Amino acid sequence: MRVLILGSGGREHALVDAILRDKGTLIYCAPGNAGISKQAECVNIKPDNITSLLRFANDNKIDLTIVGPEQPLAAGIVDAFENRGRKIFGPRRLAARLETSKAFAKEFMRRWKIPTAEFMTFTIKEVDKLRKYLETARYPLVLKADGLAAGKGVSIVQSREDSETELDKFFIKKVFGESGERIVVEEFMSGTEASVFAITDGKDYVVLPPAQDHKRVGDNDVGKNTGGMGAFAPTPFVSDSEMEKVKSEIIERVIEGTNAEGYPFRGCLYCGLMLTEEGPKVVEFNARFGDPETQAVLQLVDSSILGLLQTAADKKIGSYKLALNNAAAVCVIAASKGYPDHYEKGKEITGLEDNFPDTKVFHSGSTLKEGRTMTDGGRVLGITGIDKGGELKRASEAAYARIEQLHFDGMFYRHDIGKKAIDFEMKKGSNI
Ligand code: AMP
Ligand code: GLY
Repeated sequence: MRVLILGSGGREHALVDAILRDKGTLIYCAPGNAGISKQAECVNIKPDNITSLLRFANDNKIDLTIVGPEQPLAAGIVDAFENRGRKIFGPRRLAARLETSKAFAKEFMRRWKIPTAEFMTFTIKEVDKLRKYLETARYPLVLKADGLAAGKGVSIVQSREDSETELDKFFIKKVFGESGERIVVEEFMSGTEASVFAITDGKDYVVLPPAQDHKRVGDNDVGKNTGGMGAFAPTPFVSDSEMEKVKSEIIERVIEGTNAEGYPFRGCLYCGLMLTEEGPKVVEFNARFGDPETQAVLQLVDSSILGLLQTAADKKIGSYKLALNNAAAVCVIAASKGYPDHYEKGKEITGLEDNFPDTKVFHSGSTLKEGRTMTDGGRVLGITGIDKGGELKRASEAAYARIEQLHFDGMFYRHDIGKKAIDFEMKKGSNI
């Protein structure tokens, strides 16, 4: 089996690692990173260069292509591959709008009665109307850039004065470029967040154990939003009854709605959720695996990940048998000083060679230079601790012990990944 994975982050490294469990698999990764290059053959093609990727897939007789990041989905890579008879895992362009346009996603949810925050949308031409609305609105409120913004196009505003500064960012400074020319204004939801991946072939689906990301840059959820500073799975905060609601009120309605509207969603539907008092509500959809949740979630699956993605692409996911292993995993991101704003690259990473049994170090932004591993991004490594006995506390201890051995100039990480869940489990344990 010959597989091509698109992307260069920790999510893709975790996918490579999990897919290699199937013996006899040959993996190419475009473009990959230093860590991935130890497990797969890296090919120097950007994930949005559809023409070159198609040629590569044809020339190398690739059986299945797997799309990691969102940009190629937005550019229609799945349409291009499928139209030429090449098998690929991911949604076509119209279905990927659930991620690529927040306004589209919100309107879709309204049409299909999927629980989410109340909202209104405004374009750059309606700025006066928006200003008026913000004068009398109830705060806190959430402002979101319509288009892709690498998880950073969201502002939670506490007051009318704050909203003025934020509007400047969208419409005057244009920090989100075209993505911010349309704004979604949303009701603020309080609760605990969770991420649920549903792998679907457009008809049936398989749900993976729920995870939780940590989006803020600093300990105790302070500071700017990032692409994600760490994740753990499974999260004890999603109860069985909430999971049933996620399936029936969210995942199944997306499958039904996208089919009825003529663009069945196939691929990984990432449900970003807020567990509110009224039940789980959608914060956002993504049309792909989440990063860093994937690094944690895949450690919990025993059955073939390649089989999962292949049966989804083959529209036969109904025949897939998911087997879980009861493990718990905690992934801590080591980032470059300055992230999510400006940061430097090209610092040597050391300590990678050690072999710790209960951890995996997934590379997010790294590159090889004359045999040395150098930083090449804001998020650099995803140190993932795994406890086979299912204890988050042990998984977290393993991850933080491993991180002590790693070094690059300006490295920083959050110290509290999974902490709330661990405290919650300890309290539950002591009540028994
Ligand atoms: P998004 O890119 O839509 O996932 O938003 C990024 C982060 O902003 C989320 O993970 C939440 O922490 C927060 N957020 C977004 N929308 C809301 C909302 N309506 N209420 C509360 N928090 C939100
Ligand atoms: N972890 C958030 C994302 O992948 O968008």
